[in-house]
Amino acid sequence: MDKADLERVARAMVAKDKGILAADESTGTIKKRFDAIKLESTEEQRRTYREMLFTTPGIGQWISGVILYDETLRQNTRDGTPFAKYLDAAGVLPGIKVDMGAKALAGFPGDTITEGLDGLRERLAGYYQLGARFAKWRAVIDIAEDVPSRFSIEANAHALARYAALCQEQQIVPIVEPEVLMDGGHSIERCEEVTSAVLDAVFSQLHHHRIHLEGMVLKPNMVISGKKAPNRASPEQVAEATVRTLRRHVPPAVPGIAFLSGGQSSSEATLHLSLMNKLAPLPWNLTFSYGRALQETAIKAWGGKPASFAAGQKEFAKRARLNSLATTGRYAAAQEAEAA
Ligand code: 13P
Repeated sequence: MDKADLERVARAMVAKDKGILAADESTGTIKKRFDAIKLESTEEQRRTYREMLFTTPGIGQWISGVILYDETLRQNTRDGTPFAKYLDAAGVLPGIKVDMGAKALAGFPGDTITEGLDGLRERLAGYYQLGARFAKWRAVIDIAEDVPSRFSIEANAHALARYAALCQEQQIVPIVEPEVLMDGGHSIERCEEVTSAVLDAVFSQLHHHRIHLEGMVLKPNMVISGKKAPNRASPEQVAEATVRTLRRHVPPAVPGIAFLSGGQSSSEATLHLSLMNKLAPLPWNLTFSYGRALQETAIKAWGGKPASFAAGQKEFAKRARLNSLATTGRYAAAQEAEAA
């Protein structure tokens, strides 16, 4: 393992003014996104959509890395350049989702466990050859009555740490993503309690599995009220609770934290990130690794129409630029009204 190289890549992923585009929707998830714009999910449409995002002029100013799905890592731009090569030339690191999804955890109704460890060493070696320099594994923790169980938190933390160790062995920076879902009607206090327990278990397992913390990136949820909660916490409360929780549970050796958007609206996700960065100085760089919050407006503007390719790119560039400003606390809601 070349630790200096892992550190260099991890620091580049969370560099100031930049963040990560999560474009690693599985075939099932991207079909849902296409259904919403009434577009058939063919391999060529998926390729065209990803090309639209990745070839956005100026992408390298705001985006440090893109998380790809297996199919996309093997696809090319329309002129035949592999996406990984194209992104690398644009100064954007290619990454790869390597988990096989969250499945019901036997014996624990309501809990899930993420699968994908079998054969992972060999898959990682193959992905490195294809140009991937970082990877992602998502654990999913729901909040409901008697959920999550202590056991599911430990099982998911253990799997995340085994994945992270294999990544570093294969010279790939692991994004460690324990996502506490914002579905349901729980309070921000309950989210803080569960997120704290999850981060504690994750960093304990990362330690036991001998993870080089300087060569990884954490991708957590924000501490936020459930979507259906009455009297949802304000953006300022979300920023404060999230930073407090991270300070308590994430070692300063970790170079950066890149949040998921988890179903927040695009502008909400940007505002929360900006408010948190106003609480500087912080021991780690705080940035974004958004899927929906970077793509929602772009996919609508594109709508699957060749004539709207540039319109989709314009919307993507706008969100990427506003989130870039949020990495240094310079975003203001008034900027939403500016032209894309
Ligand atoms: P969202 O930002 O849409 O939550 O997606 C990020 C991600 O990669 C989830 O695994």
